[in-house]
Amino acid sequence: MFRSTILLSFVAVALGLSAGDLKVSVKAISSSVDSVDDIVISAIVTNPTKEDIRVISKNNILDPTATKSFAVSKQGDELLFSGIRATYDFNAAGVYTTIPAGGSVAVNHTGLGALYDFEAAGTGTFSFSASTHFQTGPDAPIIEANTAPVDVTVKKDVKKRSFIPLERRLSTPTCGDGGRKQVITDSLTYARSLAGGAATDIRTHPNSAEFNTYFGGNSQDDIWYRHDIIAGDLSSSGTRIDPAGICGGSGGVIAYTLVVTSGGNIVGSDIYTCDIFFTSVGTTPSICSGGFDSTTSSRGGVILHELSHATSGTSDLGYGCSVTAGLSVANKRNNADNYRCMGLAIYKHYNC
Ligand SMILES: *[C@@H]1O[C@H](CO)[C@@H](O)[C@H](O)[C@H]1NC(C)=O
Repeated sequence: MFRSTILLSFVAVALGLSAGDLKVSVKAISSSVDSVDDIVISAIVTNPTKEDIRVISKNNILDPTATKSFAVSKQGDELLFSGIRATYDFNAAGVYTTIPAGGSVAVNHTGLGALYDFEAAGTGTFSFSASTHFQTGPDAPIIEANTAPVDVTVKKDVKKRSFIPLERRLSTPTCGDGGRKQVITDSLTYARSLAGGAATDIRTHPNSAEFNTYFGGNSQDDIWYRHDIIAGDLSSSGTRIDPAGICGGSGGVIAYTLVVTSGGNIVGSDIYTCDIFFTSVGTTPSICSGGFDSTTSSRGGVILHELSHATSGTSDLGYGCSVTAGLSVANKRNNADNYRCMGLAIYKHYNC
């Protein structure tokens, strides 16, 4: 079924991407700067094949906005990412970029001082390793276009830039529209109960098919804990309307999370929901008749995905349950959609 959907929607572009179909070159405009404000990393993604290639351009080097395009490290220690972690509706055109046959797309990355916690690491030389995983759709295989990391030395000013000033609060959904507020409240309740169900199942069936599919090879205690903190409400949730200005249009953003960092730790977080969260995403019980692979299958699943960002700082390495099942052991632990898929799989197993 997945295959026929792909054929219908992407008929004009290359289907099975293979390694080498996209090449990435990354360089720093200046390898030594005074301030984090002056860091500019320039990337060129080239398509040497004879067909246009359309790929998801979020959470990778093609995305110049505030999603995670790099792993930034100093002396081997990765800096905490404090930009946007979002869930997308992959039917939206704005989620994709087409690299023309024989052509390339260039992207500059700026404003990085707000997206990574340079301050906690102090001045010095930082290594920027580009995220070069590409997918033609949410469940398409991931191809990596490896490229060498680039170094930038920041000599004077690494003070944390504020992306959007966050508000600290407990998990109290607020929304001017009473109906939508109730939807958020219900989805949050579902998200916690999905995570709680997964946590309980990890204790009672530590080698379940679901655990092995979404987290196999990881420590049960560790993955249990990450679900338990979501179920136990140790996060906060946000109240303002789209402060990052990324909802709407063809951008496909369903919901997103912003984390507050201090001294290299997550100390708080806000979750925001966009219009399509209310209009295009199914209820959690609807997965009993439908599937749960898609990000738009369940609102409780969306909030669970966001809560894994908010509480454990997970990344977005791949979306869609079948792709999450194929990640490496370490990437399964670090990928938000694995938590959504595990929670929904356990729900479907016991509640449908
Ligand atoms: C990236 O920045 C460099 C230096 O400012 C500039 O020459 C180049 O045109 C920019 N590229 C894009 C795609 O904006």
